[in-house]
Amino acid sequence: MDLAPSSWLQAFFFLASFWFFKCGYVHGATPAVKVGNFSKVEDAVNFHIYYGQTFKVIKNAADGQSYLLLQNNSRIATRTKYCTSRIKSFVIPLSNYSVDTNYFPGLLESLKGITSDSVASPCVLKLYKGGQVELFNNSDYQKLAQFSSYFLSDYDQQPACNFATFVPLIEDTPLQRAEWIKFMGAFANVEARANQVYNAVKENYLCLAKIATNRTTFKPTVAWMNYKNGVWSFTKNMYQLKYVEDAGGENLDASINKNTYNVTDPDDLEELHAILCTVEVVIDETLTSDPFNYTLSTFIQNLNVEDRSCFSFITNTSLWRYDKWIQSSVALDWYNGAISQPQLALADLVEVLFPTGNYTMTYFRNLAKGETPTNVDPEMCDRDSSTPMEPTIVACG
Ligand SMILES: *[C@@H]1O[C@H](CO)[C@@H](O)[C@H](O)[C@H]1NC(C)=O
Ligand SMILES: *[C@@H]1O[C@H](CO)[C@@H](O)[C@H](O)[C@H]1NC(C)=O
Ligand SMILES: *[C@@H]1O[C@H](CO)[C@@H](O)[C@H](O)[C@H]1NC(C)=O
Ligand SMILES: *[C@@H]1O[C@H](CO)[C@@H](O)[C@H](O)[C@H]1NC(C)=O
Ligand SMILES: *[C@@H]1O[C@H](CO)[C@@H](O)[C@H](O)[C@H]1NC(C)=O
Ligand SMILES: *[C@@H]1O[C@H](CO)[C@@H](O)[C@H](O)[C@H]1NC(C)=O
Ligand SMILES: *[C@@H]1O[C@H](CO)[C@@H](O)[C@H](O)[C@H]1NC(C)=O
Ligand SMILES: *[C@@H]1O[C@H](CO)[C@@H](O)[C@H](O)[C@H]1NC(C)=O
Ligand SMILES: *[C@@H]1O[C@H](CO)[C@@H](O)[C@H](O)[C@H]1NC(C)=O
Repeated sequence: MDLAPSSWLQAFFFLASFWFFKCGYVHGATPAVKVGNFSKVEDAVNFHIYYGQTFKVIKNAADGQSYLLLQNNSRIATRTKYCTSRIKSFVIPLSNYSVDTNYFPGLLESLKGITSDSVASPCVLKLYKGGQVELFNNSDYQKLAQFSSYFLSDYDQQPACNFATFVPLIEDTPLQRAEWIKFMGAFANVEARANQVYNAVKENYLCLAKIATNRTTFKPTVAWMNYKNGVWSFTKNMYQLKYVEDAGGENLDASINKNTYNVTDPDDLEELHAILCTVEVVIDETLTSDPFNYTLSTFIQNLNVEDRSCFSFITNTSLWRYDKWIQSSVALDWYNGAISQPQLALADLVEVLFPTGNYTMTYFRNLAKGETPTNVDPEMCDRDSSTPMEPTIVACG
């Protein structure tokens, strides 16, 4: 699993404004409360949702727990409270919540608290700067207890009754990750909206993938790699390999079983050199505290290979990083927007592999062409937080 600091704020924008107003309530003492619409989980494998008359159950494989979501106007909600190692109850729709933005994210009208201001979403930054969202330490349990729910994706944090584990990153494919919008939707009774967003995203993603993989032309080989403490390694996260496949590329041969290359070891360096001579595209994922100064020369310096004449990804300018949008040097939109809008990441990769020159990248910047990151600024938020955001649909076909 990918443990980089991550965020998923966009999903909440998709649901914003639906949170309060589109709920299928029946007021009064009616025993049967309508749940409204249903979400069926089609692709994601780590959560399931089941529906009763006045409640829902989310089975969450990420923490092995079942969340019992009780409609706030049902009798069961007033009578029942669970907090065991296997079952937790929440009264829905949540009247407020907070999220651990150190490791992931969230937003909506009822978002009231975050645990880090390093978020790559201009609209969350705007809410925070405007005082609508409070920042607090994620070890402040007294504070956390004040929210109807606290969403987190950090397994190491000591659990509490109102904690809900939200981990799209646990899934293996880009679409599976995006489908976690239905998880959030269930807490807000906005299943219809969550389904609508996911369907639009999925349809667009599959359309782009179909065209890309149908190409009969040469399939460029892609290496995702990162450098740490003198050692290069190839990253082989499932979702990344899937992106390359779906974009019509070829992944570095899985039969290359050696995965780490110490640049001060001449044999390692020779082998790394040879492998890199066979790839057309390199995506450099190296973590850096200073992305603005991470340039082609940083890459070359870390690589430590003198003769680069066979590196077509340099001569053919196809050396990339996914830090085009960044906030306070650490929060990348790749870990936020790209998770809820995988169709945009896929469209970027198709352009990386088969450049048309007639496309503006959302997440990637070309190191070989000297492109630099752009800072996310609260001023870039051009929406009222009560206006739901629509997924961006890429022209396809
Ligand atoms: C359920 O979804 C359908 C179609 O998306 C919509 O027409 C209907 O109003 C929704 N019902 C509720 C209770 O939200
Ligand atoms: C249930 O939640 C809705 C939406 O937040 C709210 O309008 C309503 O007053 C709540 N009902 C009860 C009984 O708490
Ligand atoms: C949060 O609180 C913990 C324990 O009180 C402390 O060690 C940590 O430095 C705090 N973090 C921040 C960002 O203030
Ligand atoms: C969240 O909502 C609950 C239930 O309505 C309320 O008791 C609590 O004070 C609220 N917390 C915050 C931080 O607004
Ligand atoms: C895929 O390629 C075949 C043969 O080149 C073509 O007939 C078909 O229309 C293509 N499909 C799509 C979705 O582009
Ligand atoms: C890399 O190799 C050098 C020299 O052999 C060694 O000193 C260093 O510890 C190695 N680094 C790692 C991370 O293994
Ligand atoms: C260089 O990039 C072009 C597309 O810009 C591609 O058609 C060509 O195959 C690439 N050449 C190599 C050697 O990768
Ligand atoms: C990083 O970039 C800034 C501004 O371009 C520059 O002032 C600074 O010296 C650079 N730092 C390093 C370590 O190169
Ligand atoms: C570039 O993209 C625009 C918008 O998608 C399209 O209308 C135009 O035809 C494209 N131009 C070329 C040369 O492909």
